[in-house]
Amino acid sequence: MCGIVGYAGPAPASDRPLNVVLAGLSRLEYRGYDSAGVAVASASGLAVCKRSGRLTNLTAALEADPLAPGISAMGHTRWATHGAPSDVNAHPHLSADGRVAVIHNGIIENFLELKAQLAARGITQRSDTDTEVVAQLLGVELADGTAATLTEAMLHVVARLQGSFTLVALDGQDPATVVAARRNSPLVVGLGNGENFLGSDVSAFVGETDRALEVGQDTVVVMTATNVKLLDFAGNPAQGREYTITWDAKAAAKDGYATFMDKEIHEEPHAVEETLRGRLVDGHLALDEMRMDPALFRSVDKIIVIAAGTASYAGQVARYAIEHWCRIPVEVELASEFRYRDPVVSEKTLMLAISQSGETMDTLQAMRHAHEQGAKVLCICNTYGSSIARESDAVLYTHAGPEIAVASTKAFVAQIAAAYLLGLYLAEVRGNKYPEEVAGYLEELSRMPGRIEKVLEQEESIRALARTMKDKTSFLFLGRHVGFPVALEGALKLKEVAYVHAEGFAAGELKHGPIALVEPGLPVFFIVPTPRRPELHNKVISNVQEVRARGARTIVIAEEGDNAVTDYAEHVFRVPLGTPTLMMPMVTVVPLQIFASEMAAQKGYDVDHPRNLAKSVTVE
Ligand code: M6R
Repeated sequence: MCGIVGYAGPAPASDRPLNVVLAGLSRLEYRGYDSAGVAVASASGLAVCKRSGRLTNLTAALEADPLAPGISAMGHTRWATHGAPSDVNAHPHLSADGRVAVIHNGIIENFLELKAQLAARGITQRSDTDTEVVAQLLGVELADGTAATLTEAMLHVVARLQGSFTLVALDGQDPATVVAARRNSPLVVGLGNGENFLGSDVSAFVGETDRALEVGQDTVVVMTATNVKLLDFAGNPAQGREYTITWDAKAAAKDGYATFMDKEIHEEPHAVEETLRGRLVDGHLALDEMRMDPALFRSVDKIIVIAAGTASYAGQVARYAIEHWCRIPVEVELASEFRYRDPVVSEKTLMLAISQSGETMDTLQAMRHAHEQGAKVLCICNTYGSSIARESDAVLYTHAGPEIAVASTKAFVAQIAAAYLLGLYLAEVRGNKYPEEVAGYLEELSRMPGRIEKVLEQEESIRALARTMKDKTSFLFLGRHVGFPVALEGALKLKEVAYVHAEGFAAGELKHGPIALVEPGLPVFFIVPTPRRPELHNKVISNVQEVRARGARTIVIAEEGDNAVTDYAEHVFRVPLGTPTLMMPMVTVVPLQIFASEMAAQKGYDVDHPRNLAKSVTVE
């Protein structure tokens, strides 16, 4: 939640600091879009501009009333927590004397107490935010001489804060220095040539440099054009870990597509290919980066998957495969619920955290709880250097590239691919499958990108159907076995981007209640299993008939050549013949994603930035 960009450049002042920050904000807008603001520091002090609403409101204001050139700058795109999305609540916030500006991602939990302490000194807040107290506290430190520099002030102030925060601050009297701090919220440094960058993630400065520095928990960053110094909260020197950014600027651009969501759906074959790349060596699994003792995998007696939203549905898909291949019980738990039910976790439990952003606070807190109980945590993650990746005992990266649209699409299929690699690795290490059996599954996995391409060929007919249904206000999605999590994901996609009431159910549950919702004209999607699994297929076909008999409009995702569906389906979209049952979700989800995207576009909604949502949810 909230996107943060910072920049420190050389004197003399120029427009580059503001331009870098605005470009970074446009790539980070997926993190929040309730308001946006910038501050530029120069020898003449600070200049600030902020506006509620989308970034375009800010850029229009800057065009009308340009800011003076600067040496350093910072920018913020907000997902509101404390205080409505308004100009006054937009970041940056200023100290009472206007000397210090602050942007913030996270929540200052003790802000009321701090606000009261400031009020006792006669300093009142202009905004309703929790953030403003930080600007005020920094300002007081410098004004009364308690701190000689912004860095010193930051070290004093972070010691008084409770909660989670990434803070970036500028001092109008020291325009060459940008000071930041992080606890439980993301921050990464970009190392440039004669200039340096800060961001919530590397998309903030992708294309400017390919050198990044991971910033650990509880760290203060002091950045100028030529120097980056890290300190722990006690003021002692700290170390960051440098790594190379593999994402390029093109990956963070729409590249001719109308929306990032559309682009990312089309990137799914590539996302799966990249996730498998280098991990299949001569038909065998090479997961060198796991760096966990194979003995530990042999001792595991239970796996608990923790994740949120779409990632949790990828986890539900993974359960079918891992239990089938490895004969280990797998539980899938919503991260936000996990630690509140006093879960039974031991050193023989393997926790599997799944997260695209690597910053989802619910998942991070669930992981921490599991760690405290002695469990090892392995994560499947798309974002290098993210908090979840850093705090896991081992990481299996999905190499899906940056996912910008708030609605997750390519990350879902890549997460399934990665979870399957893990399942096969476990099966081999634990002796559940012979290497040649594993090689057979890997061969099938490597065919999945081509199979997804085949489904994408039906894009136009899926969009055409969505255009005819744009006024429908309610949808059902039904699936059995691995089709069940796909049904849940289809419903989530439609809800989040098209704001339509949609429910996903296990097809077998239909008769236990949801069938009461079926009325003439209700659109119902079915994810039909392959006829090669008649015990699954026949039952879902019966469900299709049951809702058809009640006048519903049936839209069916079925395998090529499955003619049993045609008499009862108003529309059929096909997935390639021969796709193994466990791999079906990677293809059956594609029509549902396209359908949701087109429904949102038809209704005139901002497909990439659905209302009230943010891409990475860094609050609990
Ligand atoms: O970054 P994560 O994978 O941890 O995010 C988890 C969910 O917040 C995310 O999947 C969310 O449900 C998406 N908006 C779904 O499209």
